[in-house]
Amino acid sequence: MPGNLKQEQDITEYIRALVDEKGHEKAELIPILHEINAEKGYISDDAIKALSEQMKIPTSQIYSVVTFYRMLSHKPRGRHVIQFCESAPCHVAGGRLVYQKLQEELGLINGETSENGKWTFVTTSCLGICGVGPVMIVDHDIYGNVTPEKIPEILSHYD
Ligand code: FES
Repeated sequence: MPGNLKQEQDITEYIRALVDEKGHEKAELIPILHEINAEKGYISDDAIKALSEQMKIPTSQIYSVVTFYRMLSHKPRGRHVIQFCESAPCHVAGGRLVYQKLQEELGLINGETSENGKWTFVTTSCLGICGVGPVMIVDHDIYGNVTPEKIPEILSHYD
């Protein structure tokens, strides 16, 4: 069986099981998309097609949701995803300099994935912990009161 067809069948089976578990109601779409994103690293065209068939939601609507939420990705992501808060309270607390340092260290701009597949860098709006801004999240680890000087040490924790 050609690889692409096998992959498509695998994702269809995976989506069918997920939708059976979570439910077919439209309200479940976002939680299901988050789960696919967490499990597979991104939401592929095949996943969107399978989800559309299982949940009876047009693919265009699913694409809109995937592209609206920055936490969701339509492209493969790196092993580690860095989310950097770009909202005003973090910005005025020194976020701009941290952002510049991150770009410099990673060699990436917002939305990019490194060629070696290690990092994906995305900005996000307020993460709800402005009191300790500037704030960044690497995978599931939250870092507050981040300064440019702390960036190399934070990044060094990840293989
Ligand atoms: S503005 Fe950055 S966490 Fe709220």
